[in-house]
Amino acid sequence: MSRNAALVVLIAVGAVFQLSCGTQVSVVKDDKLCLFANLTLRFSVSYEVTGNKSQTVAFELPEKVTSEGSTCDSEKSTLKINFGDGHSFSVNFSASSGSYQADLISFSYNLNDSTVFNNSVSEETATVTFALPVTQVALDTCYSCNSRETIQGESVNMTFWNVLIQAFITNGSKSEDVTSCPADEPTAAPPTPTPAGNGTTAAPPTNATTVAPTPAGNGTTAAPPTNTTSVAPPTTPTPPLPTPKTGNYSVKAPNQTEACLLAKFGLRIGYKQGDKFEEMNFEPTGAQMSGSCGVNSSELMLESGPVTLVFTFINDTKKFRLHTLNVTVKTSSGSVLSEGNASLSLWEAALGSSYMCNKEQNFTISEEFHLSTFEVQVQPFGVKKGLFSTAHECSLDDTSILVPIIVGAALAGLILIVVIAYVIGRRKTYVGYQTL
Ligand SMILES: *[C@@H]1O[C@H](CO)[C@@H](O)[C@H](O)[C@H]1NC(C)=O
Ligand SMILES: *[C@@H]1O[C@H](CO)[C@@H](O)[C@H](O)[C@H]1NC(C)=O
Ligand SMILES: *[C@@H]1O[C@H](CO)[C@@H](O)[C@H](O)[C@H]1NC(C)=O
Ligand SMILES: *[C@@H]1O[C@H](CO)[C@@H](O)[C@H](O)[C@H]1NC(C)=O
Ligand SMILES: *[C@@H]1O[C@H](CO)[C@@H](O)[C@H](O)[C@H]1NC(C)=O
Ligand SMILES: *[C@@H]1O[C@H](CO)[C@@H](O)[C@H](O)[C@H]1NC(C)=O
Ligand SMILES: *[C@@H]1O[C@H](CO)[C@@H](O)[C@H](O)[C@H]1NC(C)=O
Ligand SMILES: *[C@@H]1O[C@H](CO)[C@@H](O)[C@H](O)[C@H]1NC(C)=O
Ligand SMILES: *[C@@H]1O[C@H](CO)[C@@H](O)[C@H](O)[C@H]1NC(C)=O
Ligand SMILES: *[C@@H]1O[C@H](CO)[C@@H](O)[C@H](O)[C@H]1NC(C)=O
Ligand SMILES: *[C@@H]1O[C@H](CO)[C@@H](O)[C@H](O)[C@H]1NC(C)=O
Ligand SMILES: *[C@@H]1O[C@H](CO)[C@@H](O)[C@H](O)[C@H]1NC(C)=O
Repeated sequence: MSRNAALVVLIAVGAVFQLSCGTQVSVVKDDKLCLFANLTLRFSVSYEVTGNKSQTVAFELPEKVTSEGSTCDSEKSTLKINFGDGHSFSVNFSASSGSYQADLISFSYNLNDSTVFNNSVSEETATVTFALPVTQVALDTCYSCNSRETIQGESVNMTFWNVLIQAFITNGSKSEDVTSCPADEPTAAPPTPTPAGNGTTAAPPTNATTVAPTPAGNGTTAAPPTNTTSVAPPTTPTPPLPTPKTGNYSVKAPNQTEACLLAKFGLRIGYKQGDKFEEMNFEPTGAQMSGSCGVNSSELMLESGPVTLVFTFINDTKKFRLHTLNVTVKTSSGSVLSEGNASLSLWEAALGSSYMCNKEQNFTISEEFHLSTFEVQVQPFGVKKGLFSTAHECSLDDTSILVPIIVGAALAGLILIVVIAYVIGRRKTYVGYQTL
């Protein structure tokens, strides 16, 4: 078995310059080049240091690396780049029907390497794995990407640039043809690595296309068996959320059998977490509802999972509207965010009717909270027989006004065309008549 295993040879590259000239790796099987990579890769790793704090260190993949552990096969190949004191970076490729792709990227770092991870509490080797967005590369071409691409995880960010990789090399030499990454194509941005920093380490990379990582199915591969507190798995991905489910809610007055407040909507909440917004859909299934109906104000309180919402509607003699909204969210990090806005004028309709809006609406509740609503219908006052009264539709849905406007505009246009045609026709005949 081991005799048949890929024979891996490293071609060392003269390490003359310290600054980012990229890292070159060639993997050879049966004396033939089968995998080639030339890339610049910068890691940013945060780790726990003494005193309950975390520290972030940034470093580049050095030029001096080994490729032990790399394998070439007809359908699966692995590029493994080992460097420094027990660190390694690897990419798994798979080939099928005329193309290949990088499936997984993983990075193992030895926290016991004090030259890099100074004062680390953990001495383990941690591994983070990222599944990559699918980029099909035609077989017998190199994947080329000069633009910077960043993969972000909770404790590790990786930025790549000047990437040239070919897996599944068939004839023993690197192809001259390339499949370029989308980021390189449209504007053909000049590939300037610009190591602008003073001194030894290169400057932090500038921004680029951000590749949202999806954590690999089975997570860490070579992760240490013991529990380390400093190493967290890659952040959960943020794929676009599905449209939230529409919930039906009602409030009954004490001793009443029929509802006095009706509400129906799908809801998404966006809240600020650190410097970015996180979104979650409000789950209507199992939501607890309560509230009250008054003459001048009615209230609906909903609680589901980590979210509590209080809607306060007011009656200002002819109309009702949503006046106050309070939101409380227990975030994934355990903190509790609570905000309210008591000067809203939303979902306004005449008393005795209901307000309805099927389109998505976005509201800013506060700097920390955004709200998107879907398929809204509410009636906080004057509900009869537990049913919504005639709906006042939001302007977004209102085609009843739009239709006459369009028809009117079309008619006006038609009349104008007829008049112009008439005038031109008249002038033509007149002019023609005169020349005769
Ligand atoms: C590797 O990439 C560096 C930086 O883009 C470039 O200067 C060098 O010529 C490349 N080497 C090969 C063999 O393509
Ligand atoms: C990764 O990048 C994000 C966004 O720039 C930043 O908030 C985070 O601190 C970075 N993490 C590390 C470990 O550098
Ligand atoms: C420090 O660690 C203790 C226990 O390990 C924890 O309860 C506390 O929240 C930590 N403090 C900070 C600031 O992270
Ligand atoms: C990558 O492929 C190698 C060889 O097929 C395998 O041993 C390894 O577990 C794979 N890595 C990941 C992260 O799946
Ligand atoms: C970087 O270099 C510039 C000019 O060469 C200098 O003004 C600046 O103070 C330096 N910054 C650091 C952090 O050394
Ligand atoms: C890079 O980010 C800065 C601020 O974060 C922004 O002003 C700039 O437009 C960005 N550049 C590109 C090319 O996205
Ligand atoms: C993940 O692990 C489970 C059991 O541990 C296994 O059944 C499953 O096939 C694995 N999935 C992948 C993508 O490797
Ligand atoms: C390690 O993690 C497992 C599961 O998360 C837990 O059951 C176990 O108690 C942990 N061990 C230590 C030493 O924290
Ligand atoms: C509601 O019912 C309770 C007991 O059944 C009764 O004491 C109370 O007066 C009723 N309230 C109203 C407003 O009818
Ligand atoms: C709204 O308020 C007015 C005046 O305060 C009151 O007369 C009317 O009954 C109220 N309407 C409803 C539906 O409660
Ligand atoms: C709702 O938010 C408003 C505005 O911040 C605040 O005045 C009010 O007390 C809050 N109400 C509740 C029930 O939290
Ligand atoms: C609401 O926000 C989402 C995401 O920010 C956006 O896709 C959508 O177009 C917005 N809708 C409206 C009506 O502004």
